[in-house]
Amino acid sequence: MKLHISCVLLALWGGFVTASRSSLNDFQRSEGRELVPTSWNTARTLILPGLTLEECARRCSHMLDCRAFNYETRPVITCKQLPWVEDGNNAEVKRNVNCDLYEKKVYVRKCIVGKGEDYRGKVSTTKSGHTCQQWWSKFPHDHRWTPTATNGLELNYCRNPDGDRIGPWCYTTDPERRYESCNIPHCKDGTCGSVQHSTAVVKRRLRSSYTTHCFRGRGEDYRGKVNETTGAIPCQRWDSQHPHEHPFYPKTYECKGLEENYCRNPDGSEAPWCFTSVPEMRTALCLQIKRCADDIEAEDCYHENGKNYRGVVRKTRKGIVCQNWSVNMPHKTKYDKSTHPEANLTENYCRNPDGDQHGPWCYTTDPKTEFDYCAIKQCEKVSIIEPAEKVEFNECGKRDDRIVRKLRIVGGVPGNSPWTVSLRDRKGNHFCGGSLVSSKWVISTKQCFSSCYVDLPGYSAMMGTLFRNPQEGEAKPQTISLTKIVCGPSESQLVMLQLQHPAQFNERVSQICLPPERYIVPDETLCEIAGWGETKGTSVNDSVLNVAQVPVLSNKDCNKYFRGRVRENEMCTNSFHGGVGACERDYGGPLACQNSDCWVLEGVIIPMRRCGHPGQPNIFIRVSVYVDWIKKVMEMA
Ligand SMILES: *[C@@H]1O[C@H](CO)[C@@H](O)[C@H](O)[C@H]1NC(C)=O
Ligand SMILES: *[C@@H]1O[C@H](CO)[C@@H](O)[C@H](O)[C@H]1NC(C)=O
Ligand SMILES: *[C@@H]1O[C@H](CO)[C@@H](O)[C@H](O)[C@H]1NC(C)=O
Ligand SMILES: *[C@@H]1O[C@H](CO)[C@@H](O)[C@H](O)[C@H]1NC(C)=O
Repeated sequence: MKLHISCVLLALWGGFVTASRSSLNDFQRSEGRELVPTSWNTARTLILPGLTLEECARRCSHMLDCRAFNYETRPVITCKQLPWVEDGNNAEVKRNVNCDLYEKKVYVRKCIVGKGEDYRGKVSTTKSGHTCQQWWSKFPHDHRWTPTATNGLELNYCRNPDGDRIGPWCYTTDPERRYESCNIPHCKDGTCGSVQHSTAVVKRRLRSSYTTHCFRGRGEDYRGKVNETTGAIPCQRWDSQHPHEHPFYPKTYECKGLEENYCRNPDGSEAPWCFTSVPEMRTALCLQIKRCADDIEAEDCYHENGKNYRGVVRKTRKGIVCQNWSVNMPHKTKYDKSTHPEANLTENYCRNPDGDQHGPWCYTTDPKTEFDYCAIKQCEKVSIIEPAEKVEFNECGKRDDRIVRKLRIVGGVPGNSPWTVSLRDRKGNHFCGGSLVSSKWVISTKQCFSSCYVDLPGYSAMMGTLFRNPQEGEAKPQTISLTKIVCGPSESQLVMLQLQHPAQFNERVSQICLPPERYIVPDETLCEIAGWGETKGTSVNDSVLNVAQVPVLSNKDCNKYFRGRVRENEMCTNSFHGGVGACERDYGGPLACQNSDCWVLEGVIIPMRRCGHPGQPNIFIRVSVYVDWIKKVMEMA
């Protein structure tokens, strides 16, 4: 009887409150059960009398130390919050007809969704049976991770803090084996086994995991949180029959991810959709969800750089519809029929009027994205690093080498790198490096930012300082606000950041040259990395800008070390006398190489799993592959 009543209440509740997200979605409910601490240590139970179920869930959701709660209805309504879920150690589950147990889903799931970045399970051995090293320990393997209240790096459990493609991993306690993946199964295996799928669907499921920021194919695997239609009408909750009655009960369609009022595609429609919250319109598509960058429809292809492409694709790799070449809305166009008559700039078809080596592109209808490369593949794979024929440099990349160089990135010396900027967060703290490529633009890496649409107010670039925290009496550094972030082609990992006003060049602040397109730095060229990052307990002072020399290593030799993982759009340097490398907070900074008498930005520092590890080459983004994109971004601004 009690069960029946609470179900009706929940259903009604779901029906009325179509507009807000329920914290109850984060919990797994066990009817008539209670979680009881096994020892006398009950001090960590928080007892809150009289809270509604919803409020109890909401508070537990927001508390890091709450992993489950008992919701008692008799003798009095009580919400008891607990720091554990059932695990056989701290607490066990008992029957109690007057109580329901709610456990946070992330702590009870024994499988991973996507890459398993939110996996909080308790597996602590790797796939070949090694015991994991504790995350707080730097022994036997030193590393850059620090457990915090939110990142889940607890004890020695397998985790995926860096979004590794293979899933959760750990450093092992075996000194010979630094790290290994843990082979945690994907949730979709098994949980959806009873549902019949056509072989095509099954194949696709095996190939692709769930996506949250974009969709593939028809978006049946989309599990993101967009909750309104293309026309901005809020969606109806799937567990509600109001205002529209429908057959898609979340319980019946367990594999379809029918949570809350998120756009989903349970019936193989053309894209994710939902029932709307207005009675007049039953369903609508959610076309504002973008297509994943790697899901380019192979309906068309282009040859060489696509300059002669005359097909009819009018959509970008991010799934955005193209803007008409002849219309200056939302973006002012620099290319149209009159300026480039030969380029066939008709309607909003993807074209390549400037011979961009990343292929056909267009201005987009999204006001936040000026231009983007199109959803068309190259017909035949051509190497992107065929060497350029002639090399020209402009007035840039000059510096005065008389400026002090006395001390020592890991294994570096404090030095002079006038194009290296320090990126600062809202509190003024240094978080990443960057390079000044013009008086108004800085290049850095995407890994330094949470997204390509991050709110920049409060962020700034500081330049002209030798110190992470500038000293009294030092020449005055320039601090300039960042006003715009533009993400590079998806595989590039680059971002460009626009400064609010131009930097003033002087002996401590200057721009660095860009390499010629596809220029390849010869093997063994001595280049420099610079940053204020981690110095890893070497005797070096990390509050000073450190510069270290590193020799370039060919991709071929680098791939011997990394077993083919280094791609053409990346380049490598060898580590010198062991242990010279870029670490945390150096990311985004330059790999600068001297060419005749100019310094050229050849690489951008990106994070690697191990930093400054003796004998390990370093991998950088190869800037010469993206020079055309960089120039276009600056030109269009
Ligand atoms: C949609 O989701 C956003 C963010 O999660 C939330 O703030 C908003 O209230 C939701 N709107 C509806 C109608 O559910
Ligand atoms: C552009 O190409 C299309 C398709 O080949 C062709 O029909 C059209 O006439 C061309 N337009 C111009 C202005 O060249
Ligand atoms: C785009 O351009 C074509 C021809 O250039 C024109 O016929 C069409 O109406 C334009 N579309 C929009 C949305 O402006
Ligand atoms: C690093 O250099 C700064 C500035 O010269 C100085 O204040 C600080 O004490 C130094 N730290 C160490 C560990 O040497």
